[in-house]
Amino acid sequence: MRFVYVMDSLDRVSHDKDTTFAFIDAAEARGHENLHCLIHELSVVDGEVFAVVHPIRLTKEAPFITLVRDEGPRRIALSGVDAIFIRKDPPFDQAYLYATLQLETLRGRTRIINDPRGLRDANEKLYAMHFREWMPRTLVTSNRDQIHDFVREVGGRAVLKPLDGAGGVGVVELRSDDKNARALADILTGEGKRLAMAQAFLPEVTVGDKRILLLDGEPLGAILRVPRGDDIRSNIHVGGSVVPTELTAREHELVKSLAPRLRADGLIFVGLDVIGEHLTEVNVTSPTGIQELGRFTGTKPSDKVIAWAEAHSLRAR
Ligand SMILES: Nc1ncnc2c1ncn2[C@@H]1O[C@H](COP(=O)(O)OP(=O)(O)O)[C@@H](O)[C@H]1O
Ligand SMILES: [Mg+2]
Repeated sequence: MRFVYVMDSLDRVSHDKDTTFAFIDAAEARGHENLHCLIHELSVVDGEVFAVVHPIRLTKEAPFITLVRDEGPRRIALSGVDAIFIRKDPPFDQAYLYATLQLETLRGRTRIINDPRGLRDANEKLYAMHFREWMPRTLVTSNRDQIHDFVREVGGRAVLKPLDGAGGVGVVELRSDDKNARALADILTGEGKRLAMAQAFLPEVTVGDKRILLLDGEPLGAILRVPRGDDIRSNIHVGGSVVPTELTAREHELVKSLAPRLRADGLIFVGLDVIGEHLTEVNVTSPTGIQELGRFTGTKPSDKVIAWAEAHSLRAR
């Protein structure tokens, strides 16, 4: 089969951490052809989506992953490939939005993981609100007074996050008794003009932020990200460490209650962030953690993802 990965440039890919790398590695082991494409290399000609692609070569030694450039770039019709993995890292900017709209014309013809309409609908912070019974108390507003009232209401301690952030960037603790609180709300709301998310502080975050990886609504497994002692943010990107974990019975329930909606939205490969059995974020653009999960469990969860893509190819064979 032929798979296309719409993603960032390969110099950003770490062979022992990156989840897209694990997909490509698993696909190669299963005998598939892997093609790389940058988001601005998509084009639509008379309603047909094309991409400039390069074959990806994996090697046992550094640089581990490179593009095959000998033959020069090829422009191919994406209706002819078996699956497209959209794995571009945030931000979800206008270029990202337009890419999802370009790919829309492939609906029903080429399997896309995740569905471009699902990616548009599911802002990673706001989408969790569809599952409010699993969320901590949460406020989305650009009004600073409303934010400060909310912090007092939830006991004087909250977190404030940008709606378009990732990797912990811009996530701060907000305390009623902190003389920086007003300034922080100013910064995150752009002086009251931009939406931000305030959320009750979950003290269990010191134990860790659980990343539950889902494939088509079923758990592949989970890892726990533990924040540094001097930070509330557990993200690996800002120095969180990763340890093995399992899903609790309640977290299995949480997954079951989200699954139908995720499936309906075509959100096949998803990373839930769960703190103290509360859902804080639904990561859909390029969730990570599959390599750590594989190492902790001695399994190859990326293999399951590729097997799923094989089984769900829309090409008549
Ligand atoms: N409600 C919360 N209570 C305590 N800590 C939180 C809360 N929400 C987020 N955090 C901390 O901030 C980190 C980043 O938050 P998150 O909402 O996952 O945004 P992102 O990962 O997209 O930057 C989490 O991993 C966690 O350590
Ligand atoms: Mg997160």
